[in-house]
Amino acid sequence: MSEKKRVFSGMRPTGQLHLGHYFGVIANWLDLQAEFNCFFSVVDWHAMTTEYADPWKVQKMVPGLVRDWVSSGIDPEKCVIFQQSAVKEHAELSLLLSMITPLGWLERCPTYKEQREQLAAKDINTMGFLGYPVLMAADILLYFAHAVPVGQDQLPHLELAREIARRFNHLYETDLLIEPQDLLTAEAKLPGLDGRKMSKSYGNAIALSDPIEDILPKVRSMLTDKNRLRKSDPGDPSICNLFPYHKLLTDPAKLPEIEEGCRNASWGCVDCKKVLMESLEAFLTPMQERRAKIDDDTVRDILADGNKRAREFAQRSMAQIRDAIGYDI
Ligand code: TRP
Repeated sequence: MSEKKRVFSGMRPTGQLHLGHYFGVIANWLDLQAEFNCFFSVVDWHAMTTEYADPWKVQKMVPGLVRDWVSSGIDPEKCVIFQQSAVKEHAELSLLLSMITPLGWLERCPTYKEQREQLAAKDINTMGFLGYPVLMAADILLYFAHAVPVGQDQLPHLELAREIARRFNHLYETDLLIEPQDLLTAEAKLPGLDGRKMSKSYGNAIALSDPIEDILPKVRSMLTDKNRLRKSDPGDPSICNLFPYHKLLTDPAKLPEIEEGCRNASWGCVDCKKVLMESLEAFLTPMQERRAKIDDDTVRDILADGNKRAREFAQRSMAQIRDAIGYDI
């Protein structure tokens, strides 16, 4: 296990995972867990940067996220699944790194500027929010992670983590901190039900834990090729919002038939949705069966074990980091 390269990634506990998360992030993690020594963290301190007014709400979300991960196939035997706030070394390293991070780097960070505009309703004029990338750098650097799977939006943060590592190594004449590489997740493969990005806040998502009977009306409501008004009109799968779902969820052998049927108008959107519903059911049912077996105690055990393993690693690496700056009292 120690021979393998290390991967670190984190997710904020902000709500149920949906299919967009699954195909965008989790599928990637599933591939990585065989090959790397993976640390996957529920980053509840990060969630507090925007949800500081209701930390109780954040904590309530933690077990659900672990349950979503494990029912999706993230294996606690293969990776370390843990809660950020259970490993205090994240806070210690974040503090030390904040000493060497120039304010300008944080103020210039595109996600900072963007979020301040988007979340104008929330008061996020806080030190914690500005320092978000420092905490994220601490998460990654604490585990000497070689690689970090992230989406496009997180690339500036990863670049900052590399710059902070470089600055630390330069200042203290060491090569202790590793500059992490990004494992870029491909652009969202699955749009929301209405064609926009899938997001709970847009009301266009299918959660991994949605009961099957609740999904049927959602599928019925999906937008298809808007030029196809009648069943007798030929359709175009390349502009239909349903087709990306088939590509990910339906038996590939059936795809040519679906495409043909749409283009020559031999079958309609209702038929197409019926097939998709079957594919969704076949995909989600085993996951939901696994989910039903993961009770509160199981989640507690998974986190207790993961927290312990993460803590052991972090305590050792933090001792080395303190040593590098002469603070190993
Ligand atoms: N900022 C990430 C996000 O919003 C979450 C995160 C926190 C993270 N720490 C991390 C991701 C470390 C990768 C590595 O998605």
